[in-house]
Amino acid sequence: MNIAGNQLRETRLELGLSQARLAELTGISQHLLSAYELEKSTLAPDLIQKLASTLQDKEQIRNITGRKKRYRNHEYKFTPKQSGRSSRASRTNGNESFINALSIIEKKHANPKGEALNAISLFSGCGGFSLGFSAAGFNVRGFLELDPGLRKIYRLNFPNSFEMGGDITQIQDAKIKNYKSLIGDIDVIIGGPPCQGFSLSGKRDVNDPRNTLFKHYLRFVDAFRPKIAIMENVRLLSSMKNSEGNLVKCDIESDFHNHGYNVQSFEINAKDYGVPQHRERIIFVAVRNDLSIKSSIPDPKFGYVEDLLSNKIPYRTFGDACSDLEFLESGEKGSDVFHAAVRHPSHVIEWLWDVPEGKSAHDNEDPKLRPPSGYNTTYKRQIWDEPASTVQTTFGMISGCRNVHPIATRSLTIREAARIQSFPDSFKLVGRLGIIRTGIGNAVPPLLAYELGEHFKEFLNFVEVPSL
Ligand SMILES: C[S@@+](CC[C@H](N)C(=O)[O-])C[C@H]1O[C@@H](n2cnc3c(N)ncnc32)[C@H](O)[C@@H]1O
Repeated sequence: MNIAGNQLRETRLELGLSQARLAELTGISQHLLSAYELEKSTLAPDLIQKLASTLQDKEQIRNITGRKKRYRNHEYKFTPKQSGRSSRASRTNGNESFINALSIIEKKHANPKGEALNAISLFSGCGGFSLGFSAAGFNVRGFLELDPGLRKIYRLNFPNSFEMGGDITQIQDAKIKNYKSLIGDIDVIIGGPPCQGFSLSGKRDVNDPRNTLFKHYLRFVDAFRPKIAIMENVRLLSSMKNSEGNLVKCDIESDFHNHGYNVQSFEINAKDYGVPQHRERIIFVAVRNDLSIKSSIPDPKFGYVEDLLSNKIPYRTFGDACSDLEFLESGEKGSDVFHAAVRHPSHVIEWLWDVPEGKSAHDNEDPKLRPPSGYNTTYKRQIWDEPASTVQTTFGMISGCRNVHPIATRSLTIREAARIQSFPDSFKLVGRLGIIRTGIGNAVPPLLAYELGEHFKEFLNFVEVPSL
């Protein structure tokens, strides 16, 4: 028996069998199959024989393709199912408007217009905060990030931003002054230390290592004296207490005050600003105290629209972020290298197979289909028609919190997480997948940053700087 490459592809598609599944059935690697189908290389005769006989075993193939039933049974609100996987998940109106919003960020970042305001970014990660501010018209002139892998991603996307270094604790005051003379006056500092970087020791002990990151952040504030400093952090920070029972938030406020800034904090949710994700955060806005202006943040534009008087735009959803992406099951790869699903063990797929949207494998009635331990926020499916759950750095782990795709039985791909975080597809990603996931999961969603940037641009236009 023999089967030519183009014949193999035709038969496989007729049978509704993906290349990944055929690879699983035959033990022939997917890249060899792909090259054979495209007639770029040939295969050993025994492998060709194996392919041909596998394709004849219709029952085995039915069992495998039958595993797609979740997808087939799902009531999509958009176009009817068509042949060809990518066309099955076609665009919703919401998807189109979301992709348009991302392309505005992409274009404005690539083609800055007019007189830019100047910013530096600290604790920059892969550059989510910077991307939004750049699109809003800020020239992010310098950045600083500990992780070399994230610095590499940042550099690729912001080639003109000056790299101020890695570990903030290792940068001498003299060097910061040097950066200031190199970079010049700036309007804004964006980015703040991760929450472990604030002191939980009530004694304001300068030697407490947990206190150091914020202390070092303030050294940059002292040297650059920006008009405003904007720090984003997890909402948990708003209720964190130091060992004396006082709110860490109040310590931050008084530290800023001692350095000549009036600060106000705002609790926000990224979904209120057009990000298709529930992501609660606290934003500190510190305004230099010679500028008589009160800090503020933009009004939310998105919300629930059941109320007829509401002037809000409906929340963006998981589907809006991802409905144009190819449908993938565990272990399958899309045409975009970052849209590739992790392969999960078959027993985990079994636990999750019939779990409905918004439910966890821990909710299964059959105890044999429940994971042996963990909370019911783990092994949990997201909901297609609602904003996605908070993207974390562990989004590739199926056992993590709410990491399962609403329909497919697998964790989220990098492309899906990046979309949910509102990164345009053109944002360059390089390096180990683990680092990329960390960068995406930790980022300030660029669309949220863009809305903040637009607001602060207006805000700064109204600021009267006292003459010296
Ligand atoms: C929450 S992430 C920032 C994400 C970023 N704002 C964005 O939008 O992409 C915090 C970053 O601080 C970095 N970091 C932690 N300790 C640091 C240090 N000592 N010096 C410089 N950066 C540090 C981490 O590597 C991490 O990337």
